Amino acid sequence: MLRYCTAGESHGEALVAVLSGIPAGLAVDAAAVDHELWRRQQGYGRGGRMKIERDAAHFVSGVRNGQTIGSPISILLENKDWKNWQEALPVAQGDPERHRRVASPRPGHADLAGALKYNFPEARYVLERASARESAARVALGAIAKLLLRELGVEVLSHVVGVGSAVVQEAVEWEAIVPLAQREEVVLNCADPAMEQRMKAEVDQALRSGDSVGGIFEVVAHAVPAGLGTYANWDERLDAQLAAAVMSLQSVKAVEIGRGIAVAGSPGSKVHDEIGFSPGARDRAGFTRPHNHAGGIEGGVSNGEDVVVRGYVKPISTLRRPLASVDFTTREPAKAAYERSDVCVVPAAGVAGEAMTALTLARCALEKFGGDSLGETVRNFKGYCRQLQEY
Ligand SMILES: Cc1cc2nc3c(=O)[nH]c(=O)nc-3n(C[C@H](O)[C@H](O)[C@H](O)COP(=O)(O)O)c2cc1C
Repeated sequence: MLRYCTAGESHGEALVAVLSGIPAGLAVDAAAVDHELWRRQQGYGRGGRMKIERDAAHFVSGVRNGQTIGSPISILLENKDWKNWQEALPVAQGDPERHRRVASPRPGHADLAGALKYNFPEARYVLERASARESAARVALGAIAKLLLRELGVEVLSHVVGVGSAVVQEAVEWEAIVPLAQREEVVLNCADPAMEQRMKAEVDQALRSGDSVGGIFEVVAHAVPAGLGTYANWDERLDAQLAAAVMSLQSVKAVEIGRGIAVAGSPGSKVHDEIGFSPGARDRAGFTRPHNHAGGIEGGVSNGEDVVVRGYVKPISTLRRPLASVDFTTREPAKAAYERSDVCVVPAAGVAGEAMTALTLARCALEKFGGDSLGETVRNFKGYCRQLQEY
């Protein structure tokens, strides 16, 4: 079974990520992992932190000579900013004047709920872990899941569908998404250049007015075989697993599978993906669809079309023109705390969405095909593909 967890605080020494259940013999290209980490750090509207951190995965266990060995993989991501924070985090000893307290909780952040829950007098340790710095660890693990999926012919990428009121309305083809991941400079990761300029203007407006802006990313998993996930039990449904995984990302407040939101307001005759047959489409047992409103999942099972998941990202809650709050100590009205912050994170959230989608699909694939070594997994997968072709 594929399992993973992360540890580490935003300004602690390092992030740690552990992934267990990857078969032995998978080639792990450290540069490919670092490239994913780089992609998460990009995007127009990011804050100063991204200039300090240049994430690089340090493999501590589970990978030897560039190959997995079947035991848990652990990865360390150093926090370069740590050296600037060693005296700033509250400790029992030390100079309280140097502690960077979060004196008034930010509406929309975890500050207040976390301080109440853990009985902290202020919110520093809340945001240290609630912060989306943690998503870097998930992206590192997702990069390994992507390498495994690639062995099965599956690729996972994302693009930005909306920033603020600038929203792409038309479906975007896989062929238009692929080149985005190869760009050397990421602006807003949108496949439509004119719309990308409108998105940039939305970020500029937020920057000018001390505000922030959210949006929508879309993750597409290409060439997913029919048959991952199952309707047999509620928690094994692929759509439910993907929804939980993508929703678990910081800032994501809604998840959509395919055109799930739009179809809720349309007649059934207009939205369901009709079924055709073409002997040429062998990898899907010959069955074809004219469109993919279902996002590649029916009854909690992948149906052979691309799996499409959207994440709806709320605007960042740290504002240069802060909202009203209350001082933790005096309980008097106060402006919400401000510290260096991103203004728009939709492309980065999309990269983290890719990671969560890849980890979910990899888990479902390993459940279906099994295998302690990559050769065994691939052999089982090919046997299943033959079954589909001969269906
Ligand atoms: C890639 C990424 C970067 C983020 N950067 C910031 C940031 O710089 N400042 C901030 O206040 N929130 C940032 N967030 C959002 C917060 O982490 C998030 O709103 C907070 O932890 C509360 O969790 P929730 O929004 O899921 O309820 C970021 C989110 C993502 C996905």
